[in-house]
Amino acid sequence: MFKAEKFIEETINNLKKEISGKSLIAFSGGVDSSVCASLVNKAIGNNLVAVHVDTGYMRKNESSDVKKLMERMGLNSRFVDASKEFYSALKGVDDPERKRKIIGEKFIRVFEKVAKKEKIQYLVQGTIAPDWIESGGELRDTIKSHHNVGGLPKDINLKLVEPLRDLYKDEVRNIARELKLEVSERQPFPGPGLAVRILGKANPERVEIVREACFIIEDEIDKSVKKGKMEQPWQYFAVLLPVKSVGVHGDRRAYGDVIAVRSVESIDAMTCNYSGIPHEILDRISTRITNTLKEKVNRVVYDITNKPPGTVEWE
Ligand code: XMP
Repeated sequence: MFKAEKFIEETINNLKKEISGKSLIAFSGGVDSSVCASLVNKAIGNNLVAVHVDTGYMRKNESSDVKKLMERMGLNSRFVDASKEFYSALKGVDDPERKRKIIGEKFIRVFEKVAKKEKIQYLVQGTIAPDWIESGGELRDTIKSHHNVGGLPKDINLKLVEPLRDLYKDEVRNIARELKLEVSERQPFPGPGLAVRILGKANPERVEIVREACFIIEDEIDKSVKKGKMEQPWQYFAVLLPVKSVGVHGDRRAYGDVIAVRSVESIDAMTCNYSGIPHEILDRISTRITNTLKEKVNRVVYDITNKPPGTVEWE
């Protein structure tokens, strides 16, 4: 049985020995980075600088919410809007692994700039076990290069600190509960963000479409959970597909994008089952997406694939 209390105590003691200087944490506002920030903050206080990067691939209102969260957590925080840089780095790129590598490298370059300015030597990341297991290496096949592992450039000049490296998501959540973090039950969101939920080119116009669709899916499911119409899924979001299909608006022909609804149940992210969302809720999601994104999306499908053989994200 994993003992969160013991892990917290041991980790804080180890971090005090491991870190001898200023550190920067890549702070996304998710469970992993929040747990990590809280532990390192307890070990070295204001010598930890929490940096949130708006990559342009965040969900609706996410970066401004994360800013407020950093304040509530009492972190010594910085905010970098790098959306233009990320958009231009991904211009014309549609291969999923290239996207992930470019994003991983861009993150590090942004962190290096802050580190140089503030004389920081350590980079803290909330990497967990599935991130490096799926990123592959000498003995394992690369399933996908998680941005914080397989996407790391080789010439990085910061010392890496990854206190959650051996843990799985459910264990990290237990620690978050023990630390009484407000984000303990938050659904996971991948570091590369909406860029891996847009199959094909992740340009700003397509980001707007998937961002709105993700918002609608989260909103409809959250409301249904509150009303007791379904259980809270483990993770739920939209994927924008790289194909168009024919439809009809009134009496006019439409040729528009396709959104896939993805909702899964998992414990540790290594395997998952698709969620059984009631049809009435799927109906509402479909109608709201096609009404809100009228001239853009004219078809909504539901992904009924488990992992394996699928993965949670489509890229
Ligand atoms: P997959 O798609 O690999 O996802 O089945 C498993 C879990 O990991 C999240 N995910 C990521 N998280 N960096 C992250 O921090 C990444 O590059 C990344 N890729 C996938 C995914 O959302 C799911 O919860």
